[in-house]
This record gives sequence, C-alpha cells and structure tokens, in this order.
Amino acid sequence: MLERLVYRSKATHKLGSLHLSNLLLQCRKRNRELGITGHLLYTEEVFVQCIEGPTESIEAVWQSLQRDERHHDLQLLSRHPETTRRFAEWSMAFSSYAHFNKYDIPGFFPVDHDGMTQAAERCANSTVSLV
Ligand SMILES: Cc1cc2nc3c(=O)[nH]c(=O)nc-3n(C[C@H](O)[C@H](O)[C@H](O)COP(=O)(O)O)c2cc1C
Repeated sequence: MLERLVYRSKATHKLGSLHLSNLLLQCRKRNRELGITGHLLYTEEVFVQCIEGPTESIEAVWQSLQRDERHHDLQLLSRHPETTRRFAEWSMAFSSYAHFNKYDIPGFFPVDHDGMTQAAERCANSTVSLV
C-alpha cells in the first residue's frame, strides 16, 4: 500500500549549505532504496516534509526521523493511504533560500524572504495542502 506522511519539526541548530547538502544526499540515497519520494521545505529553522511510499518504508523512515537529533518537536500533520504520488519525480525535492544552494543541489527550488518562487510555491502548497 502507498502512504503519504507530512510532519513539521524544528532544526536543533542552524544549518548551513554543507549540512543541508549532506542531509539531502543521505535522504535521497535511502529514499531511492526504500521507494520513497517527497519534498522537504526548510525556512526559518523549521522543516516541513512530505514522504510518500510503501507503508513499511514510511514507517522505517518515520522511526528514524524521530530518533534524529538534527531536529526536534516533530509534529505529525497527516498520514494517509494514497493512490498516486505527488512527488514521483523526486527522491526528495528541496525548497529553501537560494543562498543555501552553494553546491548546486539537483531538485532545489529557491524561495526568497519576500515571496516564494513559482516552483517552490507549487511544492510547498502541495505539501501543506496534504495536511
Ligand atoms: C529534516 C530531516 C529530514 C530527513 N529526511 C529523510 C528522508 O526523507 N529519508 C531518509 O531516509 N532519511 C531522512 N532523514 C535522516 C533520518 O532521520 C536518519 O538519520 C537516516 O534515515 C538514517 O536512519 P537511522 O539513523 O535509523 O539509521 C532526515 C533527517 C532530517 C533531520
């Protein structure tokens, strides 16, 4: 069965480009192995993440996420069975401020402080509307 889970959390420490790029590499490698796709939004030290994939994979990553000291105050916003993926083309799309993309992360959608760009807005809206 396909499931989609959305949560928000607070970063334990301010993250820089290198940390974010490493975090993304780690997420994407495991997500590919587990058949997970999704989107991660990081602004003002808050994460909002959507993960979608087989139930066992979602459960495994959700358990890992809850043990991860890089973030805290995890709030589960929604978890539902689904019939189709919203983020099929991304093992983890990532939206954040443009200055965090020093390392040219593929699947990066810049947001700016005054307003979201179209791509980031599309990702963020579809993540938030899943709640
Ligand atoms: C904000 C955030 C998002 C993450 N997203 C994922 C993810 O999508 N997939 C994943 O496998 N790990 C993700 N991780 C890393 C996991 O929390 C964990 O460190 C990693 O999966 C290894 O799991 P383990 O510690 O149980 O071995 C994320 C971590 C953070 C802080």
